[in-house]
Amino acid sequence: MRHTHIHKYSFLNITMRRYTLLLLLLLVHNPSSSCSSVLPLCNHHDNSDLLQFKNSFSINTSLYKDWPALSSCYNKIASWNNGTDCCEWDGVTCDTTSGHVIGLDLSCSMLQGEFHPNNTLFQLTHLQQLNLAANDFSDSPIYPGIGDLVSLTHLNLSCSSFGNHIPSTISRLSKLLSLDLSSCNHELRLDESTWSKLMGNTTNLEVLVLDGVDMSSIRKIPDSIGHLNSLNQLRLRNCQIDGLIPVSFWNLTQLTHLELLGNRLHGEIPSLLSNLKHLTYLDLSSNSFSGHIPDVFDNFTKLDTLQLSSNNLGGQLPPSLFRLSQLNVLDLSLNSLEGPIPSKDTKLSEITSLILYNNSLNGTIPNWCYSLPSLIFLDLGHNHLVGPIGEFSTYSMNYLVLSNNKFQGSFPNSIFNFINLTTLDLSSANLSGHIDFHQFSKLKSLNFLDLSHNAFLSINLEDNVDYLLPNLTVVGLSSCKITKFPKFLESIEDLYVLDLSDNQIEGVIPKWFNDKLLYKWKNMQFIDLSLNRLQGNIPIPSDGTYYFSVSKNNFTGGISSTICNASFLNMLILSRNNLTGNIPQCLGSFPSLLVLDLQINNFYGSIPGNFSKNNAFETIKLNGNQLEGPVPQSLAHCTKLQVLDLGDNNIEDVFPSQLEALQELQVLSLRNNKFHGTITSLSMKHPFPKLKIFDVSNNKFSGPLPMQYFQEFQGMMTTLNENTQADSLEYMSAHANATSVPYNDSVVIIMKGQEREMSRILTIFTTIDLSNNLFEGKIPQILGELNFLKGLNLSHNKISGNIPQTLGNLTSLEWLDLSWNQLKGEIPLSLTNLNFLSVLNLSKNQLEGVIPRGKQFNTFQNDSYRGNPMLCGFPLSKSCGNDEEQPPSVFPEAKDSLFGWKSVVVGYACGVVFGIFLGSLFIKTAKPLWLARLICGYT
Ligand SMILES: *[C@@H]1O[C@H](CO)[C@@H](O)[C@H](O)[C@H]1NC(C)=O
Ligand SMILES: *[C@@H]1O[C@H](CO)[C@@H](O)[C@H](O)[C@H]1NC(C)=O
Ligand SMILES: *[C@@H]1O[C@H](CO)[C@@H](O)[C@H](O)[C@H]1NC(C)=O
Ligand SMILES: *[C@@H]1O[C@H](CO)[C@@H](O)[C@H](O)[C@H]1NC(C)=O
Ligand SMILES: *[C@@H]1O[C@H](CO)[C@@H](O)[C@H](O)[C@H]1NC(C)=O
Ligand SMILES: *[C@@H]1O[C@H](CO)[C@@H](O)[C@H](O)[C@H]1NC(C)=O
Repeated sequence: MRHTHIHKYSFLNITMRRYTLLLLLLLVHNPSSSCSSVLPLCNHHDNSDLLQFKNSFSINTSLYKDWPALSSCYNKIASWNNGTDCCEWDGVTCDTTSGHVIGLDLSCSMLQGEFHPNNTLFQLTHLQQLNLAANDFSDSPIYPGIGDLVSLTHLNLSCSSFGNHIPSTISRLSKLLSLDLSSCNHELRLDESTWSKLMGNTTNLEVLVLDGVDMSSIRKIPDSIGHLNSLNQLRLRNCQIDGLIPVSFWNLTQLTHLELLGNRLHGEIPSLLSNLKHLTYLDLSSNSFSGHIPDVFDNFTKLDTLQLSSNNLGGQLPPSLFRLSQLNVLDLSLNSLEGPIPSKDTKLSEITSLILYNNSLNGTIPNWCYSLPSLIFLDLGHNHLVGPIGEFSTYSMNYLVLSNNKFQGSFPNSIFNFINLTTLDLSSANLSGHIDFHQFSKLKSLNFLDLSHNAFLSINLEDNVDYLLPNLTVVGLSSCKITKFPKFLESIEDLYVLDLSDNQIEGVIPKWFNDKLLYKWKNMQFIDLSLNRLQGNIPIPSDGTYYFSVSKNNFTGGISSTICNASFLNMLILSRNNLTGNIPQCLGSFPSLLVLDLQINNFYGSIPGNFSKNNAFETIKLNGNQLEGPVPQSLAHCTKLQVLDLGDNNIEDVFPSQLEALQELQVLSLRNNKFHGTITSLSMKHPFPKLKIFDVSNNKFSGPLPMQYFQEFQGMMTTLNENTQADSLEYMSAHANATSVPYNDSVVIIMKGQEREMSRILTIFTTIDLSNNLFEGKIPQILGELNFLKGLNLSHNKISGNIPQTLGNLTSLEWLDLSWNQLKGEIPLSLTNLNFLSVLNLSKNQLEGVIPRGKQFNTFQNDSYRGNPMLCGFPLSKSCGNDEEQPPSVFPEAKDSLFGWKSVVVGYACGVVFGIFLGSLFIKTAKPLWLARLICGYT
């Protein structure tokens, strides 16, 4: 159930940053035009235009302070002085005969300020090369004047904070060989008409770079792109381009470098790709390409890098790709590729990065993978690979991820030869055997280690050995059968992520660990110690931690108020320990806390009363404690709250109708407290529109049933899709989206008479439990409209009147308990429409007449009706006087053999609920439906 993807938690932004740096580096290291040795005299018009240009901007020396890669940038116009010859100035190139300025390179020159339409730059009409990259022009537009510089062959305005639309006059620059308008601030837009004019006129273009330019108004790459037949570099990263690639595109046979990543291109990659055989770099990742990867790579003798990750590509891996002896980087991750990795006729002898994670590849890791001499980066995680992991005969590996596969066999010891290894993820890989942990000390650079969830792998962590792993930042050792708190953690300088959940760690948290958390590990983000046997006081998370779970241990004592410093917490999960004391008030005012789960402890005192406005809470579970006092008014500020469980406490209050403000609430449980008074709707027009579980059982509520609420429970009225399968149901998983950390919302409910912990709340799971109160009056007709309801319990109240006919409309109902009330009249025949009903309890009422027959009613036993002296007919022994049929034979041998096959068929067609609990037992037998129902009724 738990999925650990910790390597994805926080490293994405680092990758992004690295990419941006790379881009800037490329900019800076573009060869700049330099002055020739014999300097001509500068044209005096140009001289004064340049001086005015200089005066229109200021110099911002701190422009690149966050970019170490740009530390060599400097103020080039410092050398531009009136009275000296402009041809001698930094960044200026003149024509040797005319003295006109023909080249201007002011890339990364710390320029800052706005461009104006009258800027004298636009008068330098002899300019052939203009480079203003990496300055800050404060979102000024590129003015139409740019179109006057018709001699330009090279124009680079990249990452200079230009904004607005690219002017259509740009298409007048028909001599352009190289155009780079990349937008790092994503403020620049290119319109369809400008784009197609540009394609039509700049037919000599060899390099076209528009990374980050918003081209979303353009429906497709136009056909006319085929005219740019000299193009050898095309880079359109993150341009929001939609649509298909036109056929003419594949005529650009001179392309050596093609990047279209991060757009919304779709359709298949055609075999015409084979035209582009001069490609050295091809990146089509993060689009929506589908179909197979064409097997056309035989002639791509110069291809160095191929990236197709994050598309919808399917089919098998094209064998020709694996024959490219010069290929350096191959990334096909995050697709739906299937079948085996080719094992024969392969020669990826130069490969450094082989990245195939998140596909459906099967078969074994082919032998050639173990002996690639240059391999640095290997990621085959999240596939269906089987067989043993072999021993590697290379030493170059830096990054090795084989997690989430179905391997068999032991941990490959050759991994300890990878002395440069920084990342090792072998989690959920089905490995077995035994590892002496001290071996990892050989891997001095190891930064990321995850060995979690290998059911048959045991790790020997001896206390008396000094393991020095100072560079580790991520440690994942969940489900590794560890029995002692790992001492090697003490040698870690800077830990970010620690997952020790689901082990058998005993005893108290060592003091050094608490000290490290408090004083040393300032970047700690994620701590999971849940499901162990830890005792004593809970550790206190470091200030920046956003995930902290110690649930299901034996911790005692209170929560120290120092937890109030950890205000970055997103999830605080302390459930199922023996913690006591008051709940620190500060928790209510944490700005980003999504989940506060303190359930099943011994906390006492009152619920924090200071929930702040605009808080982030989605789940608050305080059930199973000894909390007292009223429900705070400020809970109404938790407008994003989906789950509120205050059950099993000693709360004494009237119904907290302030909660009507919580429009997202799906689960409200107040059960087993000392609530009292009538439940009357307050003020809200539409209270609780999304509620799916409403449990106020075991209190002292009185008065009529809360009809006003019933008619607003839209969440229980959604039409049931007949085809919904148990395994394709949506779970309430908002938390996972918010932080990509798994958190399963579990809620304790009484279902079919037994207390159950729902480990995942299905969005279609709906119940109302008002049992064990002092409600009186009739069952409102309107209840029949909640046709999505799975369970209804009104038992042990003082409800009178008839059972309304409309309850027969609750066609999803699986259990119905109306026992111990004062109901009168006949059992409505309509109840036989309830095809999923497996538990019915009408006992201890004053019902009368004939018990309806047919369908589910043939499976209910005496207990369903006991204590209604005026009822008659099957299954009661009391006949109704007239021609009584024989009871239908329910299932001839069922009673004797029930236990024998119960375990096999259970879960089968017992309604969705049982499908959830017993998903693993869900066996598709051909047993008749009614048989399964019969069994479910007994479960
Ligand atoms: C440059 O100096 C000359 C002579 O001193 C003066 O006429 C001219 O205005 C100056 N130009 C600028 C742009 O300052
Ligand atoms: C150019 O236009 C700006 C803003 O309209 C104005 O402030 C500036 O004086 C003008 N410069 C020249 C040289 O005309
Ligand atoms: C194409 O370039 C030529 C030469 O600069 C120019 O005269 C013409 O207006 C341009 N056409 C378009 C559509 O921009
Ligand atoms: C692409 O090339 C093919 C064959 O070389 C030619 O027939 C076709 O007209 C070209 N298409 C474009 C749009 O240039
Ligand atoms: C590779 O080039 C050869 C010779 O030009 C040609 O016959 C063959 O069809 C090409 N293969 C592919 C897959 O394009
Ligand atoms: C591997 O996947 C392919 C394609 O999905 C399938 O045809 C084949 O049977 C699978 N092989 C094994 C051994 O599972």
